[in-house]
Amino acid sequence: MRILVTGGAGYIGSHTVLALLNSGYEVVVLDNFSNGSWEALLRVEGLTGKRITLVEGDIGDRGCLDHLFAENAIDSVLHFAGLKAVGDSMADPLTYYVNNLAGTLTLCQAMSCADVHELVFSSSATIYGDGHPMPLHEGLPSGRPASPYGRSKLMVEEVLRDLAGSDNRWRIALLRYFNPVGAHPSGEIGEDPQGAPNNLVPFIAQVAVGRRDELVVYGNDYSTPDGTGVRDYIHVMDLAEGHLRAMVALSERPGVSVWNLGTGRGHSVLEVIAAFERAAKRRIPYRIEARRPGDIAAYWADSAKAQAELGWWARRSLDEMMADTWHWQQGNPCGYQRKLGIATG
Ligand SMILES: NC(=O)c1ccc[n+]([C@@H]2O[C@H](COP(=O)([O-])OP(=O)(O)OC[C@H]3O[C@@H](n4cnc5c(N)ncnc54)[C@H](O)[C@@H]3O)[C@@H](O)[C@H]2O)c1
Repeated sequence: MRILVTGGAGYIGSHTVLALLNSGYEVVVLDNFSNGSWEALLRVEGLTGKRITLVEGDIGDRGCLDHLFAENAIDSVLHFAGLKAVGDSMADPLTYYVNNLAGTLTLCQAMSCADVHELVFSSSATIYGDGHPMPLHEGLPSGRPASPYGRSKLMVEEVLRDLAGSDNRWRIALLRYFNPVGAHPSGEIGEDPQGAPNNLVPFIAQVAVGRRDELVVYGNDYSTPDGTGVRDYIHVMDLAEGHLRAMVALSERPGVSVWNLGTGRGHSVLEVIAAFERAAKRRIPYRIEARRPGDIAAYWADSAKAQAELGWWARRSLDEMMADTWHWQQGNPCGYQRKLGIATG
């Protein structure tokens, strides 16, 4: 089977490409490299001993997509391509809607014309919004996400439901990720944020490796056991494996299927720092600042549906997530420094 992975040069995409290749799938990556890395794909090829067909292009470029589908017999699409920085989306919402929403519409049009109707979409727990009792389960009504980024994810979910409702050939998975962290255990690929990291774990890792002086913890007065925010951190390799399970399940599931991909367990910021300190065997200096507007005190997944329907659950512990993050960051203190070429096709 040949799988198109949009955004395959990014963090979650590159780990999923590795899992796909190791499971015997052929992979075509489409990426515009706005936040991806050639080097990540080269390393995936090195780790797997398999070749990736790379198309450098944009999901919003219909001509590029039509050419890609004409040249490659694609069976299924894993759609990671998107912009993901919440703060940037508030400053520049149009760019986020054009990229994440309009880009997905163009992708779906091209898929339809190419008679490809299987799609796995990277959604987010952010679509639940605030105010639900924990844990968050797929049957809850979506809320109002706090940012244009989150709203772009919710809008795409709605579009994909309409699409599946209009044509029963579509088989679509909406995968609602919780907080992906960690790296491949080889330490060869991992998360490589450009500029200051938006997320906790890459920030801790950059402090640990000496790229930043200290971590800022936003708020220690939430109604959580230690006062800091609680999130459901999931190892990126568990997440990657969840995509393969979802894709296999889709062959028998017309319409839209929704699955949370989380561990079902929340950890506080201070617990994450302590786990990282154990992994790296060094102190992480941090200071407490006021809560950030829009941050929720605590959320975590109900992961029972994915377990029952996909036979999937997150197997890796918080300690493994931190150990693998540290292994990656220690071996690659500046991330993917080299930006090398890769065969295109
Ligand atoms: N990382 C998270 O915390 C998280 C949580 C929930 C959902 N998601 C979603 O999962 C997906 C992957 O996230 P990630 O962390 O790997 O992000 P990432 O930025 O590392 O990867 C996204 C990839 O998509 C590419 N891309 C962006 N816009 C594109 C376009 N228009 N055409 C072609 N390529 C494009 C980028 O170059 C990058 O390689 C995103 O859709 C993101 O919104 C991520």
